Amino acid sequence: MDFLTDNRFNGISRFEKKLWLASPTMHGDEQKWVDNAIQTNWVSTVGANIDEVEKEIAAYVGVKYAVGLSAGTAALHLATKLAGEKLYGQARPNAGTLAGRRVFCSDVTFDASINPVAYEDGEAVFIDTEYDTWNMDPIALEKAFEIYPDVKLVVLAHLYGTPGKMEEIKRICDAHGALIVEDAAESLGAKYKINGQWVETGSLGDYNCISFNGNKIITGSAGGMFLTDSLEDANKVRKWSTQSREAAPWYQHEEVGYNYRMSNIIAGVIRGQVPYLEEHIKQKKAIYERYKEGLKDLPVQMNPFDAEKSEPNFWLSCMIIDKDAMAPHVRGEQDELWQHEVGKSSPGEILAAIAAFGAEGRPVWKPMHMQPIYRTHAFITREGNGRGKSNAYIAGSGVDVGADIFRRGLCLPSDNKMTPEQQDIVIDIIHRCFN
Ligand SMILES: Cc1ncc(COP(=O)(O)O)c(C=O)c1O
Repeated sequence: MDFLTDNRFNGISRFEKKLWLASPTMHGDEQKWVDNAIQTNWVSTVGANIDEVEKEIAAYVGVKYAVGLSAGTAALHLATKLAGEKLYGQARPNAGTLAGRRVFCSDVTFDASINPVAYEDGEAVFIDTEYDTWNMDPIALEKAFEIYPDVKLVVLAHLYGTPGKMEEIKRICDAHGALIVEDAAESLGAKYKINGQWVETGSLGDYNCISFNGNKIITGSAGGMFLTDSLEDANKVRKWSTQSREAAPWYQHEEVGYNYRMSNIIAGVIRGQVPYLEEHIKQKKAIYERYKEGLKDLPVQMNPFDAEKSEPNFWLSCMIIDKDAMAPHVRGEQDELWQHEVGKSSPGEILAAIAAFGAEGRPVWKPMHMQPIYRTHAFITREGNGRGKSNAYIAGSGVDVGADIFRRGLCLPSDNKMTPEQQDIVIDIIHRCFN
């Protein structure tokens, strides 16, 4: 379909400059701190920018220690390894700390959350999602502990900057003596009320991680951090991330190491961004609210959150189409086919329409249990085993919550440099998709 010549879209012209899903927003000080690193010759993985952002982020999130790393993925790897070592002991150099162990994992997330379980030779067991926040379902998690009572580790993410049901999840993990790796890569600045107290995501797990990837709420172009109250854990991550150097005049190693430290140049960009975190959150919230208001007459909902217990950072605004307003849309492994029906639409049609006019959206992250790489791994829903449910002899069987949100949901352009006028055009295009 050519949207630019379709009558339904008469009068709308292409955006002159592409509207992004979420792109970096620079303010000027980033250059100053990068220049400072170069002028003082701290062009390395040590330097004042790293020290400063570690201090600032630890203070902001409310943890004692932050360790700057090359990526959120690096932070997640070392957090997962720390958990594995604490639970099961130190592994041989050629084996992961989770060898032969199962780990309960968020299902609707980016694969970087849970790949570290595989790096450490563990087996991810995916836990279905709930509709209230689009995060790990505590009821499905409880079910998973019934089925696999030996599991001692849970890796969970807060999707699109919306905190999950942490109070329930922490209660369940405590009851089963399980540790939590918290992936707050998308949720820096999001707050959650636990035991009557507001705390930041990135401080809720036993091991916590954030990301400064280019699309995140603040960025260094790349980078990540491990966050903790344990000096011992912080020091271990510092050691592992710098090739596991021992205290000796020569290169001496007792453990496998990694080159995962943050660059002082990248830390300069982050240092320039930190003062603008709150401003970015405000802008993202305004975008979310404008979509909510602008789309309220359509058969769609925004990505939900618990307003009493959480304050998201609104990193990405998303929408989900009501079941009876879904036009036909099927997805293969790498291609898709959708069809227009009057009064209905689909993520495929809406994403193609906004792309035709120069705006970037994205399908909801495809659930991990549906990914080819993890299709042989267990998947647990509220009912128990979530595999093998498309039963030829049971009518209407087969769709879990994660698959349903993936099927009906999409991420909208959420760039904080998008103007209200541009956003109104996106909202208009979405309306016309339903015409
Ligand atoms: C939920 C989640 N976890 C982990 C990551 C990985 O972070 P990084 O790109 O900094 O390695 C990302 C995004 O990139 C993410 O969205």
